[in-house]
Amino acid sequence: MKHLLKMLDLSSDEIIEILNLADQLKYELKHGIKHHLLEGKSLGMIFQKASTRTRVSFETGMYQLGGQALFLSSNDLQIGRGEPVQDTARVLSRYLDGIMIRTFEQKEVEDLAEFGSIPVINGLTDFCHPCQILADLMTIREFKGKLEGLKMCFIGDGNNMMNSLIVGGLKAGMTVSVACPDGYHPDQTVLQFAKEHGGFELFDDPKKAAVDADVMITDVWASMGQEGEKAKREAAFKGYQVNEELLKLAKPDCMVQHCLPAHRGEEITEDVFEAHANEIFEEAENRLHAQKAVMVLLMKD
Ligand code: CP
Ligand code: NVA
Repeated sequence: MKHLLKMLDLSSDEIIEILNLADQLKYELKHGIKHHLLEGKSLGMIFQKASTRTRVSFETGMYQLGGQALFLSSNDLQIGRGEPVQDTARVLSRYLDGIMIRTFEQKEVEDLAEFGSIPVINGLTDFCHPCQILADLMTIREFKGKLEGLKMCFIGDGNNMMNSLIVGGLKAGMTVSVACPDGYHPDQTVLQFAKEHGGFELFDDPKKAAVDADVMITDVWASMGQEGEKAKREAAFKGYQVNEELLKLAKPDCMVQHCLPAHRGEEITEDVFEAHANEIFEEAENRLHAQKAVMVLLMKD
């Protein structure tokens, strides 16, 4: 593994290797064992979109590993004034040991990896959110004791989260069912992968997707950059909500995951959110441990 650009690039063994190391780092942190595995290393974090979890967990994670993280807002970088990503990649490669980038186009992340000479980590694009999915898989395994054979269900937008969860879930040995309205389906490359892999179902009716689910996942109806489509999306996603009624169709011990931020009353009800808050906030915490594992595997000498 040279970069973390999208779940499609990872093998099943690589996913399990990351999850195992993340579990170990979490255990060690809780037991006061320090591991300065990235001492003297610097991570640049380019943000073209807002962030709470990704920024704070990468920054803290790098500190805990003995290195430093630089917050690079695109408003302040020359990239925000049009300097090509190809040049930015070649310059930053001479200062840093790794780059985390959150941006719009997946191509920008892929270009950064191609033109730079250091590991690149995708901190979210419109296409995918691999760091989040690794934390989700880690959390599901933590609560359920396994991934293999479980049924994951995603309700809502065929966005970065749905794209990554389909690929990550299937590669981890889960079956995956999703429900989304017409016009908001996952990316074609993801659907093609899922078709070839098997164990995947796409519905327009959330009730059909929810049957016997072990884990129910959702995300906002309008992602970052889609604020202008809010009204149109609210109409399209009406009924695509994780609520108590829908959860009754899932397994009795079905867990709920949400990458956050959540919009209560839209994609998830207040009741369901609060009833599953321990699972959702463990998921948020696991971003830290999963990302530390990724950084160690990519950046350690
Ligand atoms: N889930 C997630 O990526 O959160 P942030 O947007 O706060 O980083
Ligand atoms: N789909 C959401 C995820 C946020 C972590 C977005 O892209 O805004």
